[in-house]
Amino acid sequence: MIKCQYTCSIVKNQKMTSRLFCLSLKAPGFVQRVLPGQFVHVRVANGLKPFFRRPFSIFRAQKTVDILYDVVGLGTRILSEKKKGESIDCLGPLGISFRLPPPGTKQVVMIAGGVGVAPFLALTDVLKKEKYQLVLLYGARDKDHVFSLKEFRKNGCQVHIATDDGSHGVKGRVSALFSKINLKMPTYIYTCGPKPMIKCVQDLTRTQHLSGQASLEEVMACGVGVCLGCSIKTTKGFRTVCHDGPVFDLQEIIL
Ligand SMILES: Cc1cc2nc3c(=O)[nH]c(=O)nc-3n(C[C@H](O)[C@H](O)[C@H](O)COP(=O)(O)OP(=O)(O)OC[C@H]3O[C@@H](n4cnc5c(N)ncnc54)[C@H](O)[C@@H]3O)c2cc1C
Ligand code: FES
Repeated sequence: MIKCQYTCSIVKNQKMTSRLFCLSLKAPGFVQRVLPGQFVHVRVANGLKPFFRRPFSIFRAQKTVDILYDVVGLGTRILSEKKKGESIDCLGPLGISFRLPPPGTKQVVMIAGGVGVAPFLALTDVLKKEKYQLVLLYGARDKDHVFSLKEFRKNGCQVHIATDDGSHGVKGRVSALFSKINLKMPTYIYTCGPKPMIKCVQDLTRTQHLSGQASLEEVMACGVGVCLGCSIKTTKGFRTVCHDGPVFDLQEIIL
């Protein structure tokens, strides 16, 4: 049986902005198994509150397994108080990873809303080895949700930023940035973020006859396909985000 439960030691829990943290975890044999797009299901507390684990995309898997997270409620608040050297119980790496773009692709456009940017750094670590032009369109609520994207730039990514209030980058939604880039066909799309944004990207790509993949965020309980709590409607019937996803063909998701 493949091991998927690890007691990880916290190497770093770094504040990136007033809202965002990056947690680096280490456990023997864990990092080597990670593929871009997979997630880790974290037991943030040893007691009963919160009862369920919390899922987070794997932001990077090099020497450590890193997650980028926004403090939105009890679980992420507890996580933000963890210190270097503490141990934390994790299930992972879980879920289906991103697939590579189809042969002949010239340009890859990643469209991320908020912490939906998290799975794309590990993806660019893989894609930079090919000859694609990489573009990241990143939309956030405000400047407190925008962190340094230098690691993306180091991976050769063109980065365009939009915020809802215009406090960083262009004012408006991330989907509006799409019309500002030069498409170098064939272009392939990856997206991750809130459902209204995914719907918007679906509509845009239908109009432009583009294909791609989307990574979805659903509230999860078990994280391993047993409770069916994270089921979503797809063109192939109901699918669980934790086990059948989180990555799906963009046009397969029914929103
Ligand atoms: C596959 C996957 C990957 C994810 N990756 C990341 C990531 O890289 N970084 C990150 O910060 N977050 C990520 N999330 C979301 C993260 O799991 C939630 O923010 C977290 O569970 C909230 O826990 P909490 O106890 O702090 O908040 P709670 O008290 O549980 O909830 C606070 C608020 O957040 C909302 N919320 C809770 N869970 C989700 C969810 N899954 N999707 C949307 N809204 C939610 C609740 O409805 C509520 O309004 C991911 C979710 C999934 C399913
Ligand atoms: S969270 Fe239980 S099936 Fe997905």
